[in-house]
Amino acid sequence: MAPKKDRAFQKCINPDCGVQYDCSQTLVKCPACGHLLDIAYDWNRIPVPKKLSDFGKRWADRNNPLDFSGVWRFRELLDFCDDPHKVTIGEGQTILQRNDELAAQLGIRPGRLFLQYEGLNPSGSFKDNGMTAAFSHARRVGAQSSACASTGNTSASMALYAHSCGIKCTVFIGSGRIAYGKLSQSMDYGGKTLQVQGDFDDCMKQVQDVCRELNIYLVNSLNPFRLEGQKTIMYRIIEQLGWELPDWIVVPGGNLGNSSSFGKAFAELKQLGLIDRVPRMAVINASGADTLTHLVNNKKLRWNAGRVDNKAIGDFYAELTAKKFSPHTCASAIEISRPVNLTKCLRALDVCNGVVLAVTDAKIIDAKAQIGLYGLGCEPASAATIAGLKHLLADGVIRPDERIACVLTGHALKDPTVTVNYHKDKMGPFSNPPIEVPNDLQEIIRRMTV
Ligand code: F0G
Repeated sequence: MAPKKDRAFQKCINPDCGVQYDCSQTLVKCPACGHLLDIAYDWNRIPVPKKLSDFGKRWADRNNPLDFSGVWRFRELLDFCDDPHKVTIGEGQTILQRNDELAAQLGIRPGRLFLQYEGLNPSGSFKDNGMTAAFSHARRVGAQSSACASTGNTSASMALYAHSCGIKCTVFIGSGRIAYGKLSQSMDYGGKTLQVQGDFDDCMKQVQDVCRELNIYLVNSLNPFRLEGQKTIMYRIIEQLGWELPDWIVVPGGNLGNSSSFGKAFAELKQLGLIDRVPRMAVINASGADTLTHLVNNKKLRWNAGRVDNKAIGDFYAELTAKKFSPHTCASAIEISRPVNLTKCLRALDVCNGVVLAVTDAKIIDAKAQIGLYGLGCEPASAATIAGLKHLLADGVIRPDERIACVLTGHALKDPTVTVNYHKDKMGPFSNPPIEVPNDLQEIIRRMTV
């Protein structure tokens, strides 16, 4: 049980269990019942500012690394370790771009569409928000070695943070399942890379067993401390909207860590009286990896006050195993069929009155090209948001006058292969193929001017 004195503790999300554990323990699942864990707080013991806008005052003191960090600037809302343990490399300096041009393309009113560019993080994806939190906890517990399974961004981020705090790290990636931009990062940052002959789901299973066996610190989003850091993406969206709420958050769904943490962020802000309503959330799968969409839309799986129908999940996974299903999508970051945070995501959908849907690869790469053309660019998984938004607008689920924030999770340069192929092979209406020209001045001028 958590000692009474601690202001934060770990708590099983299963309401029939609800056992609490001290934050000095390293756990990824409840030892009592096997369900996921949350970080919970004794808010009476934490000096949370009275208004969200009070956090903005920290900008004036941004020569303090914790105030500069877009995660630790909100530290009272993730108060699970003392300052000396906190590790920061300047994560969370991301921008919310108002994008009227793309809005016009989609039939959305000016001033209503915003793109949250998480690709501007140090390792080029949103993962750094979570990794700064996970490695702060790793330092609190004195971890020597860390590991993760990854479709590429978690591994890049882990390697960067592990290196910055002198902790060893090992990356488990599915053979041939990772974009080169991401693979290059983890190798460059000194991560030991294991290419497992299997897909992400295979790696996720192996890494959990290895971490248990060798007492290694796991930094996948099963780690509840990591998800605490990802809550701050929502705080920064609110900050950049002048401390006002959007009507919709649109986010890609892979292992479902982001959507889970966003739901937790809003539930806590509401509980603390810092917001008076909760935005709605749309979680977008790729259709080649759409477990969430299938279970929610077809099987009507719900959070159900924490009493999730685990048999329905088990039966579906048994079907996947029986037909030797392996997910496939060009959005390799979200090529996942057994999302580890499924039940937490169901809770987030409940909190946010959320919707889920799946979009095809063709729609994803078109949307990616549009974001490149009208915005700052992103990787394919991130573009699932705009592809999904188009469907939700067409179906009347999202109205063109609502304020919409799409989370663009990873940088455009993470996966140049998909981008180059889209343009070179003229795969869609936004393709802009290169033109072969002879090494001849007149010919070059002629081709440039046609
Ligand atoms: N977008 C990008 C760019 C990602 O890298 C990921 C996940 C997601 C979206 C999905 O986020 O898991 O919170 O639903 N990438 C993981 C990885 C799986 O290993 O890098 P989620």
